[in-house]
This record gives sequence, structure tokens and C-alpha cells, in this order.
Amino acid sequence: MSTARVDATAPEALFERATRVTPGGVHSPVRAFGSVGAPPLMIVEAKGARVWDQDGREYVDWIGAWGPALLGHGRPEIASAVGRAAENGLLFGLASPDEVRLAERLVARVPGLEQVRFVTSGTEAAMSAVRVARAATGRSVIVKFAGCYHGHGDSFLIRAGSGAATLGVPDSPGVTAATAGDTQVARFNDLADVDRCFAAVAGGIAAVIVEPVAGNMGCVPPAPGFLEGLQERCARSGAVLIFDEIITGFRLGPEGAAGRLGVTPDLLLLGKALGGGMPIAAYGGRRDLMALVAPGGPVYQAGTYAAHPLSIAAAQATLDLLDLDPSLWARLEVTADRLAGGLAEAAIEAHVPLRVQRVGSMWTAFMAAQPIRSWDDAATVEPRRYAAFFRAMLGRGVLLPPSQFECGFVSTAHGDPEVTRTLEAARAALAEVEA
Ligand SMILES: Cc1ncc(COP(=O)(O)O)c(C=O)c1O
Repeated sequence: MSTARVDATAPEALFERATRVTPGGVHSPVRAFGSVGAPPLMIVEAKGARVWDQDGREYVDWIGAWGPALLGHGRPEIASAVGRAAENGLLFGLASPDEVRLAERLVARVPGLEQVRFVTSGTEAAMSAVRVARAATGRSVIVKFAGCYHGHGDSFLIRAGSGAATLGVPDSPGVTAATAGDTQVARFNDLADVDRCFAAVAGGIAAVIVEPVAGNMGCVPPAPGFLEGLQERCARSGAVLIFDEIITGFRLGPEGAAGRLGVTPDLLLLGKALGGGMPIAAYGGRRDLMALVAPGGPVYQAGTYAAHPLSIAAAQATLDLLDLDPSLWARLEVTADRLAGGLAEAAIEAHVPLRVQRVGSMWTAFMAAQPIRSWDDAATVEPRRYAAFFRAMLGRGVLLPPSQFECGFVSTAHGDPEVTRTLEAARAALAEVEA
């Protein structure tokens, strides 16, 4: 550990204090480690592929801040770009040249992105894109997929995967019946079920929103033809196809999942990796749809912190690093493949049913023998075995996602040392997990 200060307070005591002043002791539910039966880590430093807790314990980190750390934690190029921007003032609340340059860069590189609007979180991006789709079509009902998560906007908190599923709260109280009634939920990878949703709504569907590679029920790739089928149904019925690329954008390739899989949506969402750790997200797509957004059009959407100068600087530095190193996705693939293959082998040796699903640098070790193609499959996976595996790995200095339904993320900072240490830990940990 380099510079972090060590707090002598035990993590359990600190968490106990946190629960007195903060709901559940954390500021985002999955950080509580509830489903793996471990006290949450209190992290004081993150560098490269490692994080350190307040007692100075080092962990190989496969969470990657839930996606943003594509280039590893604390990249000096990004941190100094943020520092330089801060010297010019933290926030203007007015337009600024760098945001124009960043928008131009994104429009030039992301397929289908003709116009883009910056916001502060993925939640905002998803809510705003759906508002645009509803305004464009004059229709109310959207289709989402069970197990896909699009932030905590009311319309999306219906069978929303990961955080909500982990808590066993599929539908959040506080979401009105009317809002839930405007959301049809289909099975991922099941076009017949999508047809059922379309047929159920007389007035037509406003939008289909999907994670093109699902990351919030664990990593679940789209079946061949699934995304094309959505595109075809949306085009035929006048619905807007929205790709939520908050996780996949830049992670699955220079053009995200849309570029990698060759399907261009009408609107798409970006976030996480774009900001390299700073809060920024974006929505955009077809010019005629984005023309509806205020002040050019009537659909209202605004933000005090939108296009925050420090986040814009971080995103520019991130894109600079991506442009400098076009082979990075191939390297991520190699590292992720070695990790996934090694975990699968270790499980076979230990006679533990474990199936690693992976697309690029997104991966999940499902404690299951059968493939996971949808939330229906994911929900059948028994959680206790993963919880035991998680704790056994944590004790050996390897931090896995604290839920079976969250993806692990490989960064460019992960290499042979991290994979080797993880696989050594996995062989020992799996031997402790009941088959
Ligand atoms: C696919 C997807 N969409 C949207 C969001 C919401 O983003 P944020 O947490 O920035 O609001 C997330 C967050 O994990 C996500 O994974």
C-alpha cells in the first residue's frame, strides 16, 4: 500500500456507525455485501487492478468500480486531466469548449450517434431517452427485459436484476401501479415473448430498452439474431430501440456493443467507462429524435452538473488513452479468456458446478452447470455456494463481485500476476465450497 492512511477503527465498528446515519450503512445497496454474508469492505485506495481496505489489506479487484475502471484504477493521465481542469474552476453552469469537442468525438466514433446530450448518471440517461421515445411516438408503454437494469428510474424498477434481485425486492415499493403498468417485461433472448408484449398493448410500444449484452443478471450474451429481431420489430411497429450501453460502451470495443455486434439502435446510453471514474453519462442517437430535446424541442431535460468540466476532462483523457492504444481490447480478451478458462478448470478439479460466461472483458462465474440465457435461468442458481466462494476468495485477497448477478470486469491493469493470484486462490477456495 502506498500513501493511504490506515484508520485504526475496525471495519465492523465503522459499518455499525454507518448504519446509524445512513440507510443500510451504504450509499448504494450492493456495497453492503448483503447477499454474500460478509461485512462490507471500507476501501481507502484503488490503483491499477488493486484496492486496499482501511486496515491496509490488498485485494485483486474484479469489481472495477462496477465498470468505469476499464483502464484500471487511478490512471495518472485521467487524474491529472481532472486536476488541470479543476484549476480553471470547478463548475461554470454554462457551455464550454471542451464539451463541444467531446460531443464531436463521440459522434464521430459511435455508430448511430448523430447527436448526444451529457448527463451525470446512467439513471438520468435512461430516463431521458425513454422520455424522448415516448414524446416521439406519442405512446406510453415501454418493453424492458427481466434481469436488465437501467438505473433506478421508476419505470425500470421492475424485475431489474442485480441490486434489486440480490435484495429479493423485484418491484420497489414507491413505484406506482400506473408507472409499472407502463412497463412490459419480456424474457431476454426470447423474441416470442417480445411479440407477446407488443401484442398486449393496443396503442403500440414506445420503446424497447435493452442491455445488448446483459450485465445485471450476471453476464448474459444475446443469442444470435436476438438484437436484430428487436431492431426489426421496432422498425416495423414504429417503436424506438434503445441500447443501454452504460456497461458495454467502450468496454466491448472502440464502438461498444453496437459496433461489435453490428446492430445500430435508434438511441443509446453511455456512461461508466466513458468517464474513467468521474460521473458522466450520455444519451443520444438519431438526429430527428434528439431534435425533440429542449431547448431545440419540447422534451425537457436539464442538469446543474450536466457536462461537468471535471468529468468532461476525464472523458477526454479516457478517449485519448483509448485512441493511443487500439490493441487494448485484444489484450483484455486474452486476459479475460485466461481467467475464465482457469476458473472453469479449477471448478472441474474441485467438482463444483461452475460456468463462466464471458463477453470481452465482462464475465460471471455462475455456480451452475447449465447455460444462463435469461433471468429465468439466473434466478434458479442457488446463491449460497457463490456466497461461500466469494468469502473464501476474499480471505485470500481476491475481491469478486459481491453478488452472483453482477459482472466481473477485467481492466487493462489486470495481467498475468492478477490472474495467477486469482486462480491460485480459486483452486483453494473451491475446495472449501460444497459441491
Ligand atoms: C446497464 C446499466 N444501465 C444503467 C445503469 C445506471 O447507471 P448509474 O448507476 O450511473 O445511474 C447501470 C448501473 O449499474 C447499468 O449497469
